[in-house]
Amino acid sequence: MVSAGLQELPAPIKPGQPLTALAPMQDVTTLDFMRVISEYGSPDIFVTEFFRVHDSSRLEKHILRSIDENQTGRPVFAQLIGEAIPHLERTVADLLRHPIAGIDLNLGCPAPKVYKKNVGGGLLRDPARVDQILQALRAVCPGRFTVKTRIGFDDTAPFDEILDSVRRHRVDLLTVHGRTVKGGYRSAVDYDLIAEAVRRVPCPVLANGDVTSASSAVQIIAKTGAAGVMIGRHAIRNPWIFAQCRQAFAGEPVTPTTLRAVNEYAHRLFDATHTATIPEGAHVNRMKKFLNFVGQGVDPEGAFLHNMRRTQTAKALFAVCAQHLLRTPDKLFAAEPYDGVIARPNCEIPLPAAVA
Ligand SMILES: Cc1cc2nc3c(=O)[nH]c(=O)nc-3n(C[C@H](O)[C@H](O)[C@H](O)COP(=O)(O)O)c2cc1C
Repeated sequence: MVSAGLQELPAPIKPGQPLTALAPMQDVTTLDFMRVISEYGSPDIFVTEFFRVHDSSRLEKHILRSIDENQTGRPVFAQLIGEAIPHLERTVADLLRHPIAGIDLNLGCPAPKVYKKNVGGGLLRDPARVDQILQALRAVCPGRFTVKTRIGFDDTAPFDEILDSVRRHRVDLLTVHGRTVKGGYRSAVDYDLIAEAVRRVPCPVLANGDVTSASSAVQIIAKTGAAGVMIGRHAIRNPWIFAQCRQAFAGEPVTPTTLRAVNEYAHRLFDATHTATIPEGAHVNRMKKFLNFVGQGVDPEGAFLHNMRRTQTAKALFAVCAQHLLRTPDKLFAAEPYDGVIARPNCEIPLPAAVA
């Protein structure tokens, strides 16, 4: 067994700046999407979608491609979701044959079909089990071992114990998504608890959750003391965000984006996600998953979103893009999402205060 701990992290693209990471997102952070993002300005680090780990699991080939064929020039961490220690150990051994920057453990997935198996966010109901898993993974990761966690399951009571385990098992980097599992993608992000994590663990902490823009990244780092930020949905909306963060961290003006450039992004995404076998309807539906986020910065009424969601062919989709993005091509794409324009209404509309 190799025991290690507190390894140096990959150097940021701009020396001395806070780290930026593209958040792992299932069905989003594929090799193709990573390449598109890198063309607008890479994050310092990438993390794969999660590899599922169970008794009969094998490394999923499409996720492996984002490691083996990564040409972004930036390192990729491989994320695991699972709870059975022998299978986690076996999966780490398999992944160590690939060019990974480290192994990341998912302690946050809020999907009921996932957490009901006591993996991902489900593990936060059992901090003692988390401790055993961290101990085992630390022992078999000769390189970097990182953890991405939410702040609890129903409430934040277990967070202290999770932080103790992170400290005890010499995790190299901790990402904290400042919501409970129950909070899904709706509740307010608790940046105070992210700040608490920064004080409590010896490793660098990445703040995650609603980092909406370069200026919000600066504010969240100032508020939490985090070593950097991990950005998910707002990088889908705005793939320029990592380059903009580097400008903001350097105290330089942030280069705004025009609607013309957003139209080009839509075309680039379409080309990047095209495969010989994908039927047109499925390809258009896949595009909608990305454009749902993009639409948050196009118009405050959500008209682009409304029209885009009703298209069924590529021709109709790009007609909607042209209508909303090329009529006033020099108009600026909003730096922040417009209030009330929701990408995924079924899981992102905030609950009334009394219910939340
Ligand atoms: C479509 C989608 C898929 C996700 N898949 C994963 C995943 O595979 N692993 C993970 O740790 N988090 C996953 N997440 C959570 C994100 O990594 C991130 O923690 C969350 O979106 C909050 O960050 P944001 O506000 O910057 O989006 C996913 C989120 C979304 C929206």
